[in-house]
Amino acid sequence: MEFIATGNLTAFDPQSPGARAIFNLWHLGFLVFGAIFVLVAGAIFYALVRYRWREGELDPKQIAGNKTVEIIWTAIPFLVVVMLFTATARTMSLSDPPPAPKPDLIVVGHQWWWEIRYPDSGVVTANEIHIPVGKPFSVRLDSVDVLHEFWVPQLGRKMTTVPGHLNNIWIEADAPGTYLGFCTEFCGLQHAWMHFHVVAEPQADFDDWMRAQRKPAAAPVGEAAVKGLAVFRQFTCVNCHAVNGIHADARVAPDLTHFGSRKFLGAGVRENTPENLRAWLKDPQEVKPGALMPNFNLTGEQIDQLTAYFEEQR
Ligand code: CUA
Repeated sequence: MEFIATGNLTAFDPQSPGARAIFNLWHLGFLVFGAIFVLVAGAIFYALVRYRWREGELDPKQIAGNKTVEIIWTAIPFLVVVMLFTATARTMSLSDPPPAPKPDLIVVGHQWWWEIRYPDSGVVTANEIHIPVGKPFSVRLDSVDVLHEFWVPQLGRKMTTVPGHLNNIWIEADAPGTYLGFCTEFCGLQHAWMHFHVVAEPQADFDDWMRAQRKPAAAPVGEAAVKGLAVFRQFTCVNCHAVNGIHADARVAPDLTHFGSRKFLGAGVRENTPENLRAWLKDPQEVKPGALMPNFNLTGEQIDQLTAYFEEQR
């Protein structure tokens, strides 16, 4: 089976002010701890060589209880800890927005996908976040089932999604691009396939995307697509999936309005191509074992019709 994880999975190439602050903090810690290691290891090595036991030599002068020395070696570590604490608190303040009454974005963890909501426009999507470049977005994190953890390494810190307890973080990108994010809290069988992408684009492109997402689902055009919509209703897909504009508003599974515009399906498990969508519809458990979507044992014809319908939904 072929798996993909498109995007840069590194925290060493920060692309946002928040991620850069964390990266710099890491560097500071590395330098400080490295210096302490060199000093302590060097002092031990020097003492081992310089004061090694020699025939007929007496014990060196004992300095236990020397007040000056005690004060120095208490004060220095204390100052180091205070300095690192201050730097850490400063970095944290850059990552966490105050809980805004209305966040720019709401992300809800589900086993095993991400629900994305834009409260201002009412747009709902799944596993693909769009943001305008250079604009900090406050993200409110929630979960409907278990603990998940939201992390886009290049764009900022990670944060747990807790059922019944809302957390808030900033998300921002300096440059246009598609950034890979994933769940970093073990949450069940498909934890490793709970990916999402953050598409950062110029404001005009973001506005275009938003305008397209706001529209209700287009009526099917092709003959197969028309039948596909009928299959969608007939096989109770509507009990779990929402499609804006066709009186389907269940929130158990990903919202499928404009599904055809998304780059991936199954929370990043495959690229969104007609071929992969067919494989998914044929048996979701084969593509993503444990996924909560059952195998409906659709016929090849029904699979083609559903695929035709959803590929039209851009
Ligand atoms: Cu969700 Cu791990």
